[in-house]
Amino acid sequence: MEQYIMKGGNPLKGEVTISGAKNAALGILAASIMTDETVTLENLPNVRDIRVLLQAIQEIGARVEYVDTNTVKINGSNISSISIDYEFIRKIRASYYLLGALLGKYRKSQVALPGGCNIGSRPIDQHIKGFKALGAEVRIEQGMIATEAESLVGTHIYMDVVSVGATINVMMAAAMAEGKSIIENAAKEPHIVDVANFLNSMGANIKGAGTDVIRVQGVEKLHGTEYSIIPDQIEAGTFMCMAAATKGDVLIKNVIPKHLEAISAKLVEMGATVEEYDDAVRVVGIEDRLGPTHIKTLPYPGFPTDMQPQFATLLALSEGSSIVTESIFENRFKYVDELTRMGAKITVEGNTAFIEGVEGFSGAKVSAPDLRAGAALVMAGLAAEGITTVDQIEFIQRGYEAFEDKLTALGAVIERIPVDDEKAVKKFELKVG
Ligand code: EPZ
Repeated sequence: MEQYIMKGGNPLKGEVTISGAKNAALGILAASIMTDETVTLENLPNVRDIRVLLQAIQEIGARVEYVDTNTVKINGSNISSISIDYEFIRKIRASYYLLGALLGKYRKSQVALPGGCNIGSRPIDQHIKGFKALGAEVRIEQGMIATEAESLVGTHIYMDVVSVGATINVMMAAAMAEGKSIIENAAKEPHIVDVANFLNSMGANIKGAGTDVIRVQGVEKLHGTEYSIIPDQIEAGTFMCMAAATKGDVLIKNVIPKHLEAISAKLVEMGATVEEYDDAVRVVGIEDRLGPTHIKTLPYPGFPTDMQPQFATLLALSEGSSIVTESIFENRFKYVDELTRMGAKITVEGNTAFIEGVEGFSGAKVSAPDLRAGAALVMAGLAAEGITTVDQIEFIQRGYEAFEDKLTALGAVIERIPVDDEKAVKKFELKVG
């Protein structure tokens, strides 16, 4: 097991290039096996969740060729099983995308039920509702969820909850159903548009992705394609916050500024400078402390829940009182106790965090409770006085490619060392002084 160790105080300066969007890539990877022809995926983020899902599709017979770190060729013609039940797959929720992809292609699928997550219970009732509406039988037995359909027939589905995963899963199954489907109250995230564009590049007929009504005309077959994943707006937003938190000046390259609107707007409201270019944004922090604001997480295009821990951390270092309301997940403030150990003044009541900004944080030993909170704690350490260690970094590595390399290139003093290795800590402390 490893941890990050860092010395705070250096403003981040320079350029960072954003990787492909993890949450688009996971849906696209699942959809790529819906054809028997070869699919080439570029700008694939080299992160743990992607490697695990690639391993899962190989286990059932898909051929995967690693062209380079961020490019793979996939061919699903040799798939010999529709059942995904491996220990390693239970670790990532996105394995449930294989339910919709295999159901669409083979009219049946079976995947180990995703475990609970550190940010909430995360039910999949809307996924099941959509599959049933298309004519599938869905059974849950021995920790597996199984779907089977004599035939999949297009239908009108109203999602009771705006769900990214359910929208993507049902869209995939509907893409190869007979006839037309309408998915109402659909999620509108950029990664849903990316999955729809990918499926259309394979010959699917999907319209309206990015709005709350998606229309799908089912097709018999999908063909091979070459596709490049969109940039990860959450990775971009994380680096934007880091630039502001360390009073730095960072050019964040390979982004789609439109996807960052809610993030940019809040940073400007707090007093940071955000300059937008065609495929980059520049964030410049200020010498004084940033100002307060209120944040409420909402489905896209509202403020993204995946940026909530990063902004709460930034607000904990800003002037005045701020309020952060988490309306998507029921347990996404677990990092607050860790931040408190660094000097933050935050009280959480239900799904709202009340923040009193402080002058600065002092370094401490903290633990990453989940992916985005882990990134927020690293940001806190880079802004803090002294040495901070963040352990359980396997959470962070699920969604951030070459995280410490990208930070080091921006001037951060950060390394990855074994957990509980006091010698390594001493060596780092001696080196950084
Ligand atoms: C996706 O999770 C992302 N993960 C999450 O990112 C992200 O936080 C979330 O969307 C919201 O944007 C991936 O794409 C792999 P939801 P997902 O279904 O699809 C409830 C990260 O940091 N719900 O949109 O699981 C659910 O409980 C991760 O990269 C139901 O009630 O999220 C939640 O309250 C964390 N029934 C809300 O909807 C369902 O069937 C939104 O969940 C499905 C969801």
